[in-house]
Amino acid sequence: MPSPRVLAAAAAAGAALAVALLAWTVAAGALAPAAAAQLALSVLILAATVVAVAVTRRADGKALRVDARTKRQEAALRRTGEEISRLAATVDGLAGRLEEAGHRRAEVVLAALGEDRMELAAQAERLDRLDAELHAGRAELRAGRAELAATVRQNYAQLEALVDLRALLRPRAPLPALRGWAASPDMLRLLVGRIAAGGVKTVVECGSGSSSVWLGYAVERFGGGRVVALEHDERFARATRDLVLAHGLQDVVEVRHAPLLPWSGGRDGDDGDAVAVPWYDPAALADLPEVDLVFVDGPPGATAPLVRYPAVPVLLPHCTADAWIVLDDADRPAEREVAERWLREYPELAGTAHRAEKGAMVLRRTP
Ligand SMILES: C[S@@+](CC[C@H](N)C(=O)[O-])C[C@H]1O[C@@H](n2cnc3c(N)ncnc32)[C@H](O)[C@@H]1O
Repeated sequence: MPSPRVLAAAAAAGAALAVALLAWTVAAGALAPAAAAQLALSVLILAATVVAVAVTRRADGKALRVDARTKRQEAALRRTGEEISRLAATVDGLAGRLEEAGHRRAEVVLAALGEDRMELAAQAERLDRLDAELHAGRAELRAGRAELAATVRQNYAQLEALVDLRALLRPRAPLPALRGWAASPDMLRLLVGRIAAGGVKTVVECGSGSSSVWLGYAVERFGGGRVVALEHDERFARATRDLVLAHGLQDVVEVRHAPLLPWSGGRDGDDGDAVAVPWYDPAALADLPEVDLVFVDGPPGATAPLVRYPAVPVLLPHCTADAWIVLDDADRPAEREVAERWLREYPELAGTAHRAEKGAMVLRRTP
């Protein structure tokens, strides 16, 4: 179908041709002008009608095509819509699955994190414990080092004193070990030093043992007097006598067996308490001459806490004016209390503490 413009041109050309033909016919006198005008008008109306019909039909066709295209587009749109819906459903499904997977993963991650956190907390606790153990270990190490250094110093001091004693007194037979139950070398050196200073004739020792022999050597060499060793235990009395004999000191050292008997007395202290403890049988002291040096190393502390207290109340009356009373183990609490009581209750005595492995307290009458 030609376009309306072509159709209009064709109609106009046809109409113009028809009008020209009518004009020629009128000019030729073959047709009256009025009839020719009527015919020309009819031709023009016909041409206009043809153009109008053509235009309308063309508009209809166009409308139909538009309609068909619209329907196709609607169908395409519907399909696209359906496709989009399917895609949306797929996306929804995927999103749901992703979310679910995400949740599961998150749960796994959280669980792992939870386990890791617990493991970390346990590790932190272990670290804290190790840190505390390390601190304690360091403190123990420091204390151990200090103790070791003190032990080394102490051993050297005792060795030095022993070398000194041996060089000075030259024992004639082997001697039992010192320290422990026996007096330590530094205590013996203090006693031997006093004897070596001169003027010591009689030594009384409370508790016999190795010290009895060392004191015997010192008196033999410097004093020319004797040692009376009080021993409450008959077995130890025999053992010390054998030792004395082995060193050829039987004329210098006399070991007296003096069993422990109940004793009570002393000058009542500020608190008015008298001391009641077992002590050596006083019969063992009956014939004692004046005493220059008393070594208080017995009875054993395990007998009673203040078991060494009677030494001063009993022996002080036998002592010379410048006698020394030497208390061994003076660092032990019980012996410290004994020494404090002596000094408190006997104002005529003055005490001097000496450095010694087990502590040494020397008491003398004040001038
Ligand atoms: C401190 S110890 C006296 C030691 C003595 N003065 C000395 O230095 O060798 C006191 C008492 O312990 C007892 N004794 C002595 N040697 C002992 C030993 N090796 N084991 C157990 N007791 C002992 C004796 O009865 C002694 O009188």
